[in-house]
Amino acid sequence: MRMRKKKHLEERLERCNNIIDLISDDVNFVTAIEKKEFIDIQALFGNGNPVVLEIGCGKGKFARELAKREPDINVLALEKAANVLVIAAEKAMEENLENLKFLHGGAEYLEKFLRPESIERIYLNFSCPYPKNRYANHRLTNPRFLKSYDVILKKGAEIHQKTDNMHFFEYSIEQLSGYGFSLKNISLDLHNSDFEGNIETEYEHRFASLGMPIYRLEAYMK
Ligand SMILES: C[S@@+](CC[C@H](N)C(=O)[O-])C[C@H]1O[C@@H](n2cnc3c(N)ncnc32)[C@H](O)[C@@H]1O
Repeated sequence: MRMRKKKHLEERLERCNNIIDLISDDVNFVTAIEKKEFIDIQALFGNGNPVVLEIGCGKGKFARELAKREPDINVLALEKAANVLVIAAEKAMEENLENLKFLHGGAEYLEKFLRPESIERIYLNFSCPYPKNRYANHRLTNPRFLKSYDVILKKGAEIHQKTDNMHFFEYSIEQLSGYGFSLKNISLDLHNSDFEGNIETEYEHRFASLGMPIYRLEAYMK
């Protein structure tokens, strides 16, 4: 039964292969790392427009809306879980979004497949908070990830983070500032603030409809 499910998932992923790069079991980009080859982003999108990256895009609501609102930027959406990535990619294909592509893999290897200073902005939307301290190094604002963001981001480019989890937000503020990022536009209740142009994610919709505050910040390296 499980084999059938997996085969079905693989077939669905295969049908999306013009918008998902590196579809394979190679979610850790072992091949790319061994070959020491960066992804050719310009070839992937067929133009040299600025590229933004969403890490952990889930079912892709945010990435699709961003690509629609900003046709002159290229949106790369990274997701390690194939079962949600495939839903994101199928929806994007239906909508024919030329400026949105997906990467199947883990953020642990960003530096290996994205060129230094190639990314204009990183979005961390409702990243898994990993509440237990022993899993802190899986949090996407752990210094091991911040180091990679620092490498792949262009000079002065920003990280935009949203979360429903106050402890994770506090942790992120500590880690970002400790690493040397400056913070601005911090909101402790995004939906009751005067912030304009918010793009709601799947998780955000769920948490906000339960009345939970949404935390948001922007970080940049001077
Ligand atoms: C809580 S969900 C949020 C999904 C979406 N961003 C949203 O706001 O609706 C977090 C997603 O991040 C993905 N994720 C967690 N760690 C990751 C990593 N190291 N690299 C890539 N994706 C990751 C998970 O598989 C999951 O789909």
